[in-house]
Amino acid sequence: MRADPLRYLSDEIDSLKSQGLYRHLRVLDGEQKAHASFDHRSVVNLSSNNYLGLTTHPKLREAALDATRTRGVGSGSVRTIAGTMDIHVQLEERLAAFKRTEATVVFQSGFAANAGTVSAVLGKDDFIISDELNHASIIDGARLSRATIKVFPHRDVRAARTLVEALPRDRRRLIISDGVFSMDGDLGALPDLCDLADEFGCIMMVDDAHASGVFGSNGRGTIDHFGLHGRVDIQVGTLSKAIGVLGGYVAGSKAMIEFLYHRARPFLFSTSHPPAVAAACLAAIDVLEREPQLIERLWDNTHFFKGGLQALGFNTGLSESPITPVIVGEAALAMKLSDVLFQNGVFAQGIGFPTVARDKARVRTIVTATHTRDELQFALDSFAKVGRSLGVI
Ligand SMILES: Cc1ncc(COP(=O)(O)O)c(C=O)c1O
Repeated sequence: MRADPLRYLSDEIDSLKSQGLYRHLRVLDGEQKAHASFDHRSVVNLSSNNYLGLTTHPKLREAALDATRTRGVGSGSVRTIAGTMDIHVQLEERLAAFKRTEATVVFQSGFAANAGTVSAVLGKDDFIISDELNHASIIDGARLSRATIKVFPHRDVRAARTLVEALPRDRRRLIISDGVFSMDGDLGALPDLCDLADEFGCIMMVDDAHASGVFGSNGRGTIDHFGLHGRVDIQVGTLSKAIGVLGGYVAGSKAMIEFLYHRARPFLFSTSHPPAVAAACLAAIDVLEREPQLIERLWDNTHFFKGGLQALGFNTGLSESPITPVIVGEAALAMKLSDVLFQNGVFAQGIGFPTVARDKARVRTIVTATHTRDELQFALDSFAKVGRSLGVI
């Protein structure tokens, strides 16, 4: 019999198991909601990015159904051949007006938006100055660009400055940061990084995946939150988190967006969204503009839950957003905490290396606008009980 040439992959899996890093994929039995059923167990769901509860909002559902009835289930092509539908164009125009930029381009995912943009706008003679905790899609885009990557310690603008000072001014230099860091819930040092970009003539880029629909007026993101309109050349957002659907977008100047239409490889070489996706995203922007009370409720819940975890004595790091990590250190302990919480009716995902540093494993919580106070109190009580039993607090 032929020897399995992929045997080393099984060895890798065994090694993950021995380090407590092996993950079983939990299966959602119904809808993605604040209280949901995973693996046939009813739990308070603190693991989704569905910040505003839009995954099941009636207006989005209706818009998706209507678009399916009138336009079908698929676009049938990449954008640059036959797959640009009127509804894709409407969404891009609407997003540009919402983000207060000249134009936007929509990608199949936030990952594709980051990776496709960074790799298109820079080349091998250029430089990328990147926060060490930036998202994997930025890191992959940077690698694909073949530019030289300079990493600065998390939010350390002084270190970023030292890096920038040493770079040749006649080369393109891109400073890039997440708006909200996805595993820590803290904000990028955006005002200071914009000053740095202005002073040294760098391109400024922000990945606002976790800020869209959460920060700024009507959820316009961290650029709006910090008053940085016009100072961030490339803004990335996602349609998959607070917006509740799927996709990513880049917002900026008309010239930059036209360039991406011609050079961003996921845009050129991968089929565009089904019409239902674009229609639901359009409906989501209506909701952001007309139902700001959802964002207020998200923040009320955030303050209640984060304050509760801190009062219990958990280490929640530097979080300033609805993402609140409970940092425990060892991956095996984080996975144990997550598993026992799950048995007690709370789903909060354990996260270990390589998503976070080896000694910073955690259970990550995200509250939404649609959690009730009772659900959040139940979750806090469970955290208290399980945290004490495992010696975390
Ligand atoms: C900071 C950040 N950027 C980009 C992405 C990718 O977005 P999407 O899930 O839409 O591909 C994510 C999501 O995991 C993220 O957390």
